Amino acid sequence: MKKVLILGDIHANYPALKAIQNYVRPNSFDRVVNTGDLTVYSTFPNETIKWFRESNKSVCILGNTDKRVLRILKGKKLKKPRKREKRVMYFWTSENLLPENVKYLRSLPKHSDFKIDNIHIGVFHGTFDDENETLFPGTPESRFRKLAKGSPFQVHIMGHSHVPYYKIVSGVHFVNPGSVGRMFDGDPRTSFAILKASSERIKIEHFRIPYPVEEVIKGLKKNRLPDIYTKMYRTGKKLN
Ligand SMILES: [Fe+2]
Repeated sequence: MKKVLILGDIHANYPALKAIQNYVRPNSFDRVVNTGDLTVYSTFPNETIKWFRESNKSVCILGNTDKRVLRILKGKKLKKPRKREKRVMYFWTSENLLPENVKYLRSLPKHSDFKIDNIHIGVFHGTFDDENETLFPGTPESRFRKLAKGSPFQVHIMGHSHVPYYKIVSGVHFVNPGSVGRMFDGDPRTSFAILKASSERIKIEHFRIPYPVEEVIKGLKKNRLPDIYTKMYRTGKKLN
């Protein structure tokens, strides 16, 4: 049996990533996937990126927050987000990233794919044909059918919506692990998924586990970052 640890939308929340590491032992997996958005909203982008940099099993892609951080580092103007508190978080991240982690972020692709046990798996932040698209469990099935039609992948692993789901549409598996580090649904626990494959049979399981939220709060306070994010991490709700 092959195993894939599916992580995404970590948003620099290293305490949550460590809690998952302690819970599942990533070394026992064949691959560790990250669906993008390694950075912004918590104060541990360096620790988070280093964790993936040092893994020889990671399949890592860029998300929209990572792309914006790279844009700032290139000296380009940032049109979005417009909200002041959000911009503070983007600029704080770009000012605090270590050069080796900037280099790693720059090396990441927008999407990726790999094979295990003859199962071809695609990894996207948005979707196969639109990196900015956000799919939810309630997105009309016709959209999933369109993506499944002619898909070279048996499994699409996607992020961006911060909402965990698993669907099989027209024989294609669609998985979102939810967000490791920035929850939207009022449950402050971290979210991830595990894919198990044997003899081309696929099983997906979602997990929600507690992590030391106060470590994230401490990081935000120490760096005098906007209070709204303290509240966001404690409540597990999207507040802006
Ligand atoms: Fe995200």
